[in-house]
Amino acid sequence: MTTLESSRTETAIALDARHTAHNYSPLPVVAAAAEGVWITDVDGRRYLDCLAAYSAVNFGHRNPEIIAVAHAQLDAVTLVSRAFHSDRLGPFCAALADLCGKDMVLPMNSGAEAVESGLKVARKWGVDVKGVPAGEANIVVAHNNFHGRTTTIISFSDDETARRGFGPYTPGFRMAPFGDADAFADAIDEHTVAVLVEPIQGEAGVIVPPDDFLPRLRALCTERNVLLIADEIQSGLARTGRTFACEHWGVVPDVYLLGKALGGGVLPVSAVVADRDVLGVLHPGEHGSTFGGNPLAAAIGTTVVEILNRGEYQRRSTELGEHLHRRLRALIGHGVVAVRGKGLWAGVDLDPSLGSGKDMCHRLARRGVLVKDTHGATLRFAPPLVITADEIDWAVDQFEAAIPASRRKLP
Ligand SMILES: Cc1ncc(COP(=O)(O)O)c(C=O)c1O
Repeated sequence: MTTLESSRTETAIALDARHTAHNYSPLPVVAAAAEGVWITDVDGRRYLDCLAAYSAVNFGHRNPEIIAVAHAQLDAVTLVSRAFHSDRLGPFCAALADLCGKDMVLPMNSGAEAVESGLKVARKWGVDVKGVPAGEANIVVAHNNFHGRTTTIISFSDDETARRGFGPYTPGFRMAPFGDADAFADAIDEHTVAVLVEPIQGEAGVIVPPDDFLPRLRALCTERNVLLIADEIQSGLARTGRTFACEHWGVVPDVYLLGKALGGGVLPVSAVVADRDVLGVLHPGEHGSTFGGNPLAAAIGTTVVEILNRGEYQRRSTELGEHLHRRLRALIGHGVVAVRGKGLWAGVDLDPSLGSGKDMCHRLARRGVLVKDTHGATLRFAPPLVITADEIDWAVDQFEAAIPASRRKLP
């Protein structure tokens, strides 16, 4: 295989290999700068970023509006902890709660922390409000879920690579097949406090559920007095053409878990958003985070909410997403087996005879396009939403050219 390595790239990768834990297997691309949809490596090569840091860079690398706010906040105050108030936190929580149509926000940092926090809130709500005996609560999750990497979260994963060797596992979770509302109904009992799902499963390969799934889960949760928690950490904040992916099915969850793009591609900002009857179960000392809701994060998060309120990225994702999907679907039967997704988010199943998804990622990187594989032969296309139609065409042209000639469409 020809490689992208040059001496600078090789030196950087060798240093990583010696001193960075090997919990990832990155492509041999060493970013030195980025702007909009483009990443430049240490040797000056440019790549079109079709991953957007797993949707954390929805608004483009170094979005000028977000960077200007970050600079201004760096010159004011960056961190005080929650031991004091800051003039940034209230406006952020008010704006984010309003965006979600809810009352309150619990600010955290990483996505996994938002999930952990949501689980704790649901268990506490179960005890305090629903009347589930302490220690008896259960939460129903979907097969093939991905909600992060903490000990509790991997306890309810069915990905053996994510779990193996990390036990003992946290009890209190049940699983049902994603998309099967009847199976969720069967899994719920009188001690169930929440159903936790990704509205569209991202890491599983951009899996869109049947149209009746989320509306039926919503009805089920209301009927059985169970919280519906939507993990919109990857699917939310304009990625699918709506502010929240749940909107595609007219569903409003009880709890939103948000992260990734909430930090504007600058720093980790996450949140649990819900009404007072849910988030109100937390009292001083019961939960917290030194960095959660810090002034820099809050200033950036407020700007992200302002951007979302304008709707321009939701529109771009819808319009350009149709273009991306049209171009990708044209490759079905010519190296591509299936294309799924919504907006500027596509899961592309490769014909397995072409090699692994990882091989294709390497081939595409050599052609200047960065994508990420998942589950063997699936590629994810999730570019920053600032991408243009011409850039989409160029990326898909590179993809088509990376498919061996014998499998390509005849002109
Ligand atoms: C749906 C979902 N939830 C939670 C997470 C975890 O977020 P983080 O990596 O910021 O902890 C991810 C990350 O990919 C995700 O896709």
